Amino acid sequence: MKILFIGDVVGSPGREMVEEYLPQLKERHHPDVTIVNGENAASGRGITQKIYEQLLSAGADMITLGNHTWDNKDLFNFIDKADQLVRPLNYPKGTPGKGIRTFQAGSAEIAVVNALGRTFMNPVDDPFPVVRQAVTEAKKQTPFVFVDFHAEATSEKQAMGWYLDGKASAVVGTHTHVQTADNRILPEGTAYLSDVGMTGPYDAILGMEREAVLKRFVTGLPSRFEVPKTGRAILSGCLISLNRKTGQAESIERILINEDHPF
Ligand SMILES: [Fe+2]
Ligand SMILES: [Fe+2]
Repeated sequence: MKILFIGDVVGSPGREMVEEYLPQLKERHHPDVTIVNGENAASGRGITQKIYEQLLSAGADMITLGNHTWDNKDLFNFIDKADQLVRPLNYPKGTPGKGIRTFQAGSAEIAVVNALGRTFMNPVDDPFPVVRQAVTEAKKQTPFVFVDFHAEATSEKQAMGWYLDGKASAVVGTHTHVQTADNRILPEGTAYLSDVGMTGPYDAILGMEREAVLKRFVTGLPSRFEVPKTGRAILSGCLISLNRKTGQAESIERILINEDHPF
């Protein structure tokens, strides 16, 4: 079972990278399931129905979200029927959408979980017990369980990786938009990567226009961050292979495509 995961797609430059390279990545690696984090897909903030459908037609099977989940209100118009969309699990009860969904990959089923961290982030419910419970429940149906842990602190991400070692097939971090080099398989068979990185503008600051971000740092004055429309772009992802019987990870490789690391 091969999982291709692509990190935080930022705005139109990110969507264009997915459209250009996802078909080629699929041809090269033949994943059984492709998961894309789309929390920044609509101008850096949230996702719309049109963009959700665009990412699916580009080849995504499941779309995960993050702290920007509710930033584009169009989501409320389609989240109830979007069965390939997974929002963070640790929102209060009654929140629209689902934090875990399964995808039928041929004869196998894979469960996809999305959760938010709490360290240096806005308050949400404790992700640890609910994620472990969801993973344990899912394991009764399928050995393949993927967790996108959307968090700021590498310590919280590592903690989640170890907490789910031997339970989830993979725990991969998103949100910081910078790929980390710590891809590994934990002792009980869980593939782990602290952050998969982002997909979108390359000559920017975490996908946002440099000028506005610099203004905030240098002058301390407020400024609105926008996604640059033109310029070079990057795609960040990872490829995970799982044992077909046990669901334990056999490998996790990083994928990085930009002008400094050509495809
Ligand atoms: Fe993001
Ligand atoms: Fe985020």
